[in-house]
Amino acid sequence: MNLIEKYPLPMRVIHWLLAGLVFGMLFLGWYMNDLDDANPAKLGFFTLHQSLGVCVFVLAITRIFVKFRAAHPPLPSDLSMWDRRMAQGTHFFLYLILVLMPLTGILMTVLSGYSVPFFNFFEFPRFLNENQGAGKLLTRAHEFLAYAIATLVVLHLGGILKEFVLHKRNLLKRMI
Ligand code: HEM
Ligand code: HEM
Repeated sequence: MNLIEKYPLPMRVIHWLLAGLVFGMLFLGWYMNDLDDANPAKLGFFTLHQSLGVCVFVLAITRIFVKFRAAHPPLPSDLSMWDRRMAQGTHFFLYLILVLMPLTGILMTVLSGYSVPFFNFFEFPRFLNENQGAGKLLTRAHEFLAYAIATLVVLHLGGILKEFVLHKRNLLKRMI
């Protein structure tokens, strides 16, 4: 019998940091993109978005590493096959997009001819030559992935709510 009922502390901390960051990054991304190019605040928002995005990348990789290293609670054994597949599939794609979202952001920035800043501290060296075509393609991918992750988060919250309402199962306790 598996006696672990909670996710390990590092996973819980990173989960909530990432949840806050992803919500913030989605709203910041859509907000900053709508700003007029002449708006003097635009550059600052881009720097903030790119720097926080680098933090998401580091946290997502750390999170995946911890997941494979530390024991964590299995899904409830009485979940139906469908619910189990939905939960596992949603988690898999959340992890995948948590990595792909910042990766496309970093690559599109560099390929478009810019350096990725880390707040106002420093800039990461550009590791690829400028390629406007590839930059545009990755920008489209970045925009598409934003909608994909927003949809997955809705499915994620829907699944947790469904367990709570229909089966009186409070999964939140495992993550706090
Ligand atoms: C979890 C991480 C991230 C999320 C959720 C996110 C989300 C978004 C969203 C929603 C937009 C607006 C897209 C649109 O207008 O349809 C955007 C744009 C943008 N993002 Fe991100 N982003 C992330 C990471 C990054 C990173 C790491 C970088 C670069 C280092 C980056 C650079 C940019 C840039 C430059 C734009 C403007 C694109 C344009 O000019 O059209 N993002 N992002
Ligand atoms: C952008 C937002 C979020 C992302 C990217 C995210 C991502 C994830 C991932 C990948 C897992 C799977 C953990 C694993 O087993 O490896 C997970 C689990 C979980 N998340 Fe989120 N999450 C987000 C927001 C939220 C929010 C707002 C809540 C609050 C209701 C929440 C509650 C939970 C709970 C309770 C679990 C554990 C489910 C279980 O019992 O196995 N998440 N989350």
